Amino acid sequence: MADGPAATGFEDLYLLNNSVPEVDLAQVNTGIVFLGRELKMPLIINAITGGIREADELNRDLSQLARRKGLGMAVGSQVVAMHEKMPPESFRVVRRENPGGLVLANVSARSRFPVALKAVEMLEADGLQVHLNVPQELAMPEGDREFCGVLDNITELVKRSPVPVIAKEVGFGLSREAAERLIEAGVEYLDIGGRGGTNFIAIENRRGGLFGTELTEWGISTAVSLLEVLSLSASVKVVASGGIRGALDAAKALALGAEMVGMAAPLLRMWQNGGLQVLEDWTEAFGYRLKAVMLMTGVSNMAELRNLPVLITGQTAEWIRARGIDPERWSRKGVQSYAQFTNSQRNSGDHESGKRGMHR
Ligand SMILES: Cc1cc2nc3c(=O)[nH]c(=O)nc-3n(C[C@H](O)[C@H](O)[C@H](O)COP(=O)(O)O)c2cc1C
Repeated sequence: MADGPAATGFEDLYLLNNSVPEVDLAQVNTGIVFLGRELKMPLIINAITGGIREADELNRDLSQLARRKGLGMAVGSQVVAMHEKMPPESFRVVRRENPGGLVLANVSARSRFPVALKAVEMLEADGLQVHLNVPQELAMPEGDREFCGVLDNITELVKRSPVPVIAKEVGFGLSREAAERLIEAGVEYLDIGGRGGTNFIAIENRRGGLFGTELTEWGISTAVSLLEVLSLSASVKVVASGGIRGALDAAKALALGAEMVGMAAPLLRMWQNGGLQVLEDWTEAFGYRLKAVMLMTGVSNMAELRNLPVLITGQTAEWIRARGIDPERWSRKGVQSYAQFTNSQRNSGDHESGKRGMHR
């Protein structure tokens, strides 16, 4: 279940070191409210129980992790519970273990409303993830081949669902145009699920899928997908996922403007190798490192982190420029230019001290 072969694009993004942050570590707060639930960290344990044999145990342990560490959690596709391949009880445990936590239901974007409603009710979910995975289906010999009507179905789900719908890619990345169509369908939350982490084409190819050894580089990198979607003027809320592998990736995604980050395969690997204790240790370390990155950039909360400039270089910058999106929108974010600064000082009649201030 290795990542790649194509990269996430996070290697093209840079945050700036702040040598004089004037922040104490104890002041740094990674807390956030998402879908009405208070979280200690802006991290969602993303859907991983789809097709996993140990789903019962895994769901129980992940929900305990989510409760103890204040994380959000999405379950894997609940469509299996509707066909009695998996008992609903193996999902219900998630809410029982974490009554006050952020829990997301998960079905296919093609699932009809009664199935989606059952999935939400099974978990008393706060949101409903609907997954979009066209390349994976096409790579699988037994996969879906009919994709017409998905947008109409999503429109219906958004209208009738008792909780907000999150349209979620699974590792091929949402483009700006796809995001626009989803927003037109009424969706207000997008999980961009970009390329660079778990690669379902590579996974299917290893299982004798229809793409042979080809197409493993297919998709839009997580960094590019985020920028494409965040460049839209619509006030959609964005979850960044696909190859998020540590605190620096997370901080970059949040600084670009994501509300939350999601992580899937590495959490499953850790659990398989060492169980809940390993996951708890990792989460503790992740939280510390996220606070450290925030302090090193001179911010102490999520709102300030989202206002930081992010430098966009390399292929990621080239891609978004070719799409008519200006990388300076992020690199100049929250930064007063020298000209603006000196003008404001001149207007206040303090030109000389203004210049000194810039050199401090
Ligand atoms: C074993 C496994 C099972 C998954 N099952 C589901 C699923 O049922 N529903 C879904 O929306 N995504 C599913 N995903 C996709 C993840 O939620 C996520 O979108 C994808 O793995 C990219 O994130 P990552 O690079 O952090 O793994 C699964 C991923 C893995 C590794």
